[in-house]
Amino acid sequence: MAELTVDNLVVTFGHGSSAFNAVDGVSLAVPHGTIVGLVGESGSGKSTVARTIAGLQKASSGTVLLDGEDLLASRGVDRRRRATQVQMIFQDPYSSLNPRMTIGDAIDEVLLTHTDAGSAARRASVMELLDLVRLKANAIDQYPSQMSGGMRQRVAIARALAVRPKLIVADEITSALDASVQGSVLNLIRDLQRELQLSMLFITHNLAAVRYIADTTAVMSNGRIVEHGPSAELVANPQHPYTQTLIEAIPRIENAGGDRLLQSLGA
Ligand SMILES: Nc1ncnc2c1ncn2[C@@H]1O[C@H](COP(=O)(O)OP(=O)(O)OP(=O)(O)O)[C@@H](O)[C@H]1O
Ligand SMILES: [Mg+2]
Repeated sequence: MAELTVDNLVVTFGHGSSAFNAVDGVSLAVPHGTIVGLVGESGSGKSTVARTIAGLQKASSGTVLLDGEDLLASRGVDRRRRATQVQMIFQDPYSSLNPRMTIGDAIDEVLLTHTDAGSAARRASVMELLDLVRLKANAIDQYPSQMSGGMRQRVAIARALAVRPKLIVADEITSALDASVQGSVLNLIRDLQRELQLSMLFITHNLAAVRYIADTTAVMSNGRIVEHGPSAELVANPQHPYTQTLIEAIPRIENAGGDRLLQSLGA
């Protein structure tokens, strides 16, 4: 996978006196084969950073480089190619899956769009991808409604991996799941990072989650990154007052959930 470098990214919403910078000069690197966590309060600009990197939101200024290639400058064919280089996974996999399509067809659809492989080769790829995300082979004939939230999120991960992206941007992908299921999805992400050298920007409210899977973690507040360091250190010894508040707030807000998550992860 690739190295992502975001430099001085600004995203402005609104016009005139109501204009405000949802992203206000963010610089961030995701080195090849690492997971970088991005945490911060609601509205701090995390999803806007994610969407801009994935090309779903226009930047006002700044650069986003993937292995040195400027993603913001790409146009036309370049833009389409870029869409395969950066894959985004969202909180609610249900909304991105067609309820009338089997899981096998949903993954095949991605392969059909992005590869020249024939049907037999694609079917083999679908089986491989299901195996990669630890779903049983019979999932191929199931419909999204027959699956749990955790299984559907595995399908979303399989679809993202199907195009062999250089970078995955995961926005709150475990937030809607039960604590126990969160743990298993995080374990999967961690395993996949090791197996495939994934480069990933992992956005979450859950500090236990970033401590578990992210090499480094950046903390956002009001459109800016206020702290960025090794995840374990950041959680154990937050430097910025804002990070300290965030860490204090977690046990209150998520209460037993976070602790259970940590226990289920053996962390
Ligand atoms: N398309 C848009 N138009 C106008 N304002 C927007 C748009 N998208 C986001 N915003 C605003 O930008 C700010 C940052 O939003 P963003 O969704 O990036 O935050 P977030 O950190 O992902 O929050 P959450 O944790 O709730 O997901 C918020 O004030 C939001 O209301
Ligand atoms: Mg968000």
